[in-house]
Amino acid sequence: MQARLRGMIDDRTKMLAAISHDFRTPLTLLRLRVENVDDPVEREKMLSTIADLDAMVAATLEFASGGAKQAPRRPTDLTALVASITDDLADGGLPVSMEAARPVIHECDPATLKRALTNLIDNAVKYGGSATVAIRETLQAIEITIDDTGPGIPEEELTHVFEPLYRLESSRSRETGGMGLGLAIALSIIRAHGGRLTLSNRPQGGLRALIALPKMQTGSAHKGP
Ligand SMILES: Nc1ncnc2c1ncn2[C@@H]1O[C@H](COP(=O)(O)OP(=O)(O)OP(=O)(O)O)[C@@H](O)[C@H]1O
Ligand SMILES: [Mg+2]
Repeated sequence: MQARLRGMIDDRTKMLAAISHDFRTPLTLLRLRVENVDDPVEREKMLSTIADLDAMVAATLEFASGGAKQAPRRPTDLTALVASITDDLADGGLPVSMEAARPVIHECDPATLKRALTNLIDNAVKYGGSATVAIRETLQAIEITIDDTGPGIPEEELTHVFEPLYRLESSRSRETGGMGLGLAIALSIIRAHGGRLTLSNRPQGGLRALIALPKMQTGSAHKGP
């Protein structure tokens, strides 16, 4: 069962890579043609849609090629990293906030971690109406939670939503749909950091995404005298 599932995911991933790759050329052609559109407002709108498509293709390719596996780590203030993401989104008018917290320094790859956090916050806003992010330290781990006040996810779907291209029925019918990659990408990034990413329905309603990053980096547990 496990092997069959893995095989299916491998096939899908290969297909994804092929499709995304083939999207590139027509997208470039389209961009060149759009440059000739006279109406500047219309032209900007078209270019911005093409940029969105471009970003999706880039993300898909990166995911399919197993990106975000090995990343250089450096000490980073995670509180500041989270705050910079939530501030930017809030400045852009999105209902995103962060609970005040002290600096939390952790060895990580800030670029990929930022992508994982952004994917989760994006989901909270898109499907749950708003995002509240909090960071706290326990003895063993750094925990970052992203809470929303939406409908949550049916219990039996909580693990499936991590599969690439998997979207809930309610989301598939949406006009501006994503690709069903955000959670798969976030999961692979968090795992590459030795951490865990879990989703749960909050008792008071809404979904909680929990990132737990171990303070002790994998492989370093027996270092020292
Ligand atoms: N906070 C949430 N509340 C309710 N449903 C959610 C939430 N986050 C994710 N989902 C469900 O899980 C599915 C998969 O999420 P994921 O982020 O992987 O893909 P996506 O948002 O559909 O597309 P992408 O992130 O690639 O733009 C979503 O389509 C949605 O059905
Ligand atoms: Mg998403």
